Amino acid sequence: MGLVGRAVEQMIHFYRGDGSDIAHFLKVYALAQTIGRGEGLESALQETLELAAVVHDIACPACREKYGDTDGKHQERESPAIVEPFLRELGVPEAQVRRISWLTAHHHTYTGVDGLDHRILLEADFLVNSEEKGLSRAASEAAEGQIFRTETGKRLLRSMFPRDD
Ligand SMILES: [Fe+2]
Repeated sequence: MGLVGRAVEQMIHFYRGDGSDIAHFLKVYALAQTIGRGEGLESALQETLELAAVVHDIACPACREKYGDTDGKHQERESPAIVEPFLRELGVPEAQVRRISWLTAHHHTYTGVDGLDHRILLEADFLVNSEEKGLSRAASEAAEGQIFRTETGKRLLRSMFPRDD
C-alpha cells in the first residue's frame, strides 16, 4: 500500500467510531485528488495535497474537547503538535511534514494563499463543507469569485451546486 493509502487507513483509525469525521475527510480527499489531477499537478505536489487533505481536520477532536468548537484559529494552534508526529510515524520526509503541517494549520485561511496545494485544499474543503451544511445560490456565486481559482474546482462547484444561468 502506498503512503497515501496508509495515511487514509491510519486516519480512519485515529477517528475510530466517528463516522462523520471519517466521511468528511474521505470526501475532502476525493475532491482534492480530483482537482489536483484535473489541474495536472506533478506527482510530488499531488502527494503532498492528498496527504494534507487526509489529515487536514486532525485537530478537530482535540479542539472539541479543549474549546468546545472546531474554530479555524483553534485548529491552527493545536494541529502541528498532532499532525507532525502522525506524519513522521508514517515515514513522511521532514520537508513534506513541515509543508503538510503548515497547510493543515492554514486550511481556513483564505488570504495569502500560498501554492496550488493550499488553493486546492481550500476549494475541496469548501465544497464538502457546503455539501454538508447546504449552500445558498448567493454563497455559491460569491465563493466562485472569492475562493475558487482552479478551473476544475469551479466546474465541481457548478456541478455540485447547479445554477440556472
Ligand atoms: Fe474539513
